[in-house]
Amino acid sequence: MKKILVTGGLGFIGSHTVVELQNEGFDVVIIDDLSNSSVDVLEGITSITGKIPLFEKLDLKEKSSVESFFQNHKDIVGVIHFAASKAVGESVEKPLDYYENNLNTLIYILKEVLNLNASNFIFSSSCTVYGQAEKMPITETAPIQAAESPYGNTKQIGEEIIRDTCNVKSELNAIALRYFNPIGAHPSAKIGELPIGVPQNLVPYITQTAAGLRACLSVFGNDYPTPDGTCIRDYIHVVDLAKAHVIALKRLVENKNASNFETFNIGTGVGSSVLEVINSFEKASGQSLNYKIAPRREGDVISAYAHTEKANTILGWKAQSSLDDAMQSAWDWEKHIRNI
Ligand code: UFG
Repeated sequence: MKKILVTGGLGFIGSHTVVELQNEGFDVVIIDDLSNSSVDVLEGITSITGKIPLFEKLDLKEKSSVESFFQNHKDIVGVIHFAASKAVGESVEKPLDYYENNLNTLIYILKEVLNLNASNFIFSSSCTVYGQAEKMPITETAPIQAAESPYGNTKQIGEEIIRDTCNVKSELNAIALRYFNPIGAHPSAKIGELPIGVPQNLVPYITQTAAGLRACLSVFGNDYPTPDGTCIRDYIHVVDLAKAHVIALKRLVENKNASNFETFNIGTGVGSSVLEVINSFEKASGQSLNYKIAPRREGDVISAYAHTEKANTILGWKAQSSLDDAMQSAWDWEKHIRNI
């Protein structure tokens, strides 16, 4: 069986990807420092797939620990690197922590990946690299804009670190997946998103409000130049996103990549407004949501949704789930963890 390392494999996107990898017959080893995840996620994964993934609690900032991990796992044929800090606001407060945590760790891992017999690497990138793009939908060739936050900058610099390394190391094969807005949970409701503290993202805020943990959702601005005045995003079901990782990994393992560094947008291609997301949630849950219109949030782009042709035709991946499916699964998960 082919052994795949998933860093951050107990996190939101990582755990769903571990499930899809195991479903496809890969042997998975997870590294996670548990800074924003729980070891209980292992149980959820195991109860879905019937297979227990290997797990090592490891801080990727400790270079020597990373080196010894790879010494013990020389048979890894691919690495999917999720482990990173991801709170935009926190990154503004703690830029050095973000650069250290997201970039040093990337460098340590890449050095080890280069020593493997099969140097296949998938990187979690983000649509944030496009900023407010001029044209919708956004293609992969849209200009990269100055980052709005240290978090966003770590994704841009991360891609540059990989691209520069690919330029001189032909044995390295890498794909950066630029995610749009991942939402939802596994349909079994055994794994899902576990935000610590007050959620910063729309969908967990909605489900926590409906579950009674938050009093009211603030819709950040209804005076944007969009059909209903609220911002537009491309919300992608996390299971579809997880499947994109497996397909990208297979592309590398089977030497089907067109060049040794590729980028793909991973989105649905459909833009939804904040009010449309609320409406979809109300349909899924059969209850009305308590929300109010609030001022705009600083740093929000008006609209971002993906041009998906490159992912559809070259990668051979297409999102299957609708916004309603994703909202239903997010609500099922919230009910599961709150015992509702
Ligand atoms: N929103 C609200 N109320 C909330 C939370 C969000 O109205 O309580 C709105 C936002 O203003 C935005 C939309 O819902 O219009 C989506 O907001 P999210 O915070 O869920 O997602 P973002 O598009 O802001 O964030 C995404 C990724 C980040 C990335 C960021 C950069 O989740 O990882 O894009 O643009 F950094």
